[in-house]
Amino acid sequence: MSGVLAVSTGTMAVIVVVLLIDLYLVFLIVSGFRARKADREVKATVTADSVPAGAEEAAAVPQKVMPRREFFRKAWLASLGLFALQFGAASIAYLWPTIKGGFGSKVTVGSVEDVKKAIAEANQPLYYGAGRVWITSYEGTGKDPKTGVDYEAEGTLAEGLMPLDQRCVHLKCRVPFCVSSQWFECPCHGSKYNEAGEWKAGPAPRGMDRFKIEIVGGQVVVDTSEPVPGAGRGTDTTGQAPEGPFCS
Ligand code: FES
Repeated sequence: MSGVLAVSTGTMAVIVVVLLIDLYLVFLIVSGFRARKADREVKATVTADSVPAGAEEAAAVPQKVMPRREFFRKAWLASLGLFALQFGAASIAYLWPTIKGGFGSKVTVGSVEDVKKAIAEANQPLYYGAGRVWITSYEGTGKDPKTGVDYEAEGTLAEGLMPLDQRCVHLKCRVPFCVSSQWFECPCHGSKYNEAGEWKAGPAPRGMDRFKIEIVGGQVVVDTSEPVPGAGRGTDTTGQAPEGPFCS
C-alpha cells in the first residue's frame, strides 16, 4: 500500500503533464486537419465560372491577410502550448528532489560507522537536510507492550539507528533538537519528545513520525516516501528523562 502511494505521489504530476501534452498534440493535429479541410472547401467553391474575367492573376497571388478565425485558433494553440510548457517545467522542478533521490524517495545518508560517529561527536542526532530527517541513536527496548510498539518489526530501527521525520505531528513545524535536555522540542506550541521521538509533553497527539530504514552494503538508507505514524502517547521504550534545561 505504501509503495503504491509513493509511486502515485511521485508520478501523478508527470502523468498529468504527459496527458496534457498528448491532449495538446491531438488538438493540434485535429486543428490542422480542419484547417486543410476548410482550405479545400474554399478552393472548391472558387470555380472558373465564379472568378470574374481578368481576376485569375489576382487569385493566384498568395493570401497574406490571416483570417480572424485562423488567428484566434493559432493564438489559442500558442497559449495552450505555453501553459503546457510552464506546467511541465513546474512539475519537474517540484519532483526534482524525488527524481534526484532526495526527500520523497530513498536517501542514502552515509555509512553506519560515519553516521554513528557524527552523532557521537555532536552529542545530538544527525540532521540530514536532503531527506528532511533526523537520524537518532536509539537506546531502548525497541518495544512497548502497553501500546503495541515494535520498532524493528515496523522497519524503523536498524543497527541502533532510527530516522525521525523533522515535522512536528501537531501542526508540522520543524522540530529542532535541544542539546541540553537531549529531547526534541517544538518551538511552535511546546510539544516535547524524547530522543527516540516519543511524545512527552505538549499538544502533539503522538510521538514524532518515523521513516523506514535499511542497511544496504553498510550504508544507511532511509525511505522518505511515506512516514510511519509516531507511537501513541504513553509509549516509552527508553525511560529517558530530560538531561538538562529545556531550550523552549
Ligand atoms: Fe509543534 Fe504545534 S507544531 S507543537
